[in-house]
Amino acid sequence: MDLRGRIGVVTGGGVRVGRAIALGLARSGVDVFIHYNRSAEPAERTAEEARELGVRAAVGSVDLSDPTKAAELIDLAERSLGAPSILVNSASGFPSDTIADVTVDAWRATLDLTLALPVFATQAFAAALPDDLDGAVVNITDVRTQTPYREHFSYVVAKGGIDTFTKAAALQLAPHIRVNAVALGVILPPPKEGDSYAEKLAADLPLARVGGTEPVVAIILSLLQNDFITGEIVRVDGGGHLT
Ligand SMILES: NC(=O)c1ccc[n+]([C@@H]2O[C@H](COP(=O)([O-])OP(=O)(O)OC[C@H]3O[C@@H](n4cnc5c(N)ncnc54)[C@H](OP(=O)(O)O)[C@@H]3O)[C@@H](O)[C@H]2O)c1
Repeated sequence: MDLRGRIGVVTGGGVRVGRAIALGLARSGVDVFIHYNRSAEPAERTAEEARELGVRAAVGSVDLSDPTKAAELIDLAERSLGAPSILVNSASGFPSDTIADVTVDAWRATLDLTLALPVFATQAFAAALPDDLDGAVVNITDVRTQTPYREHFSYVVAKGGIDTFTKAAALQLAPHIRVNAVALGVILPPPKEGDSYAEKLAADLPLARVGGTEPVVAIILSLLQNDFITGEIVRVDGGGHLT
């Protein structure tokens, strides 16, 4: 798939991993719709940087804690830039809970934002995709779905759902739309933690370092470009799954 001239949507594209993905798309010639929830200024700054790279960029805020808003997200992107043919589902929560203390309300909130939203955003994206355009979706999942955390229970179950959703959607949306995922390991420290937190986690990895966003962006671009890959989940985890 030639990325140049396409229109892409990145959920949570104003900050951190989502921001790096949005700018990676822009560098590849993709016009980007940068979705945000609370990070209005960072999203606008990201859009400005994207425009400096020579593409069109627009921002829009939708609170994705309600999956019925997924259609609004795609609609907003389409009205801003035109019909998107790339969707990157990056927005997510990262609550701390366990099976012992999670409440039904907290469970529903996590599953809505982290699993249902990408599902219904993909549904709306597929419905809006013109017949004469092929499309591609990349979901962001977590390598710890295979080796769960002792905490972040509802999050890791939701991300496990993303793994299965990626494969089921890839099958059902082929050949018009490809659906892949990247499973991240230690990429950035959590927002409230410093670098030393991530460095401590990374010390035990075979590659013994924090990933940063560059390898994430590189594999997403590669999955988008490679027309013969769908239903794939690629780990970006410094070999963490080996230990
Ligand atoms: N960082 C890592 O090392 C790592 C590791 C494994 C997996 N991941 C996955 O990679 C992705 C990006 O991670 P990150 O660390 O960059 O995430 P993050 O810092 O936790 O950012 C969360 C993103 O989700 C958006 N968001 C949160 N609640 C929302 C809501 N109710 N409605 C709409 N958007 C909402 C935020 O938007 P606003 O800021 O605009 O509110 C923000 O862009 C996530 O899917 C995460 O699970 C990351």
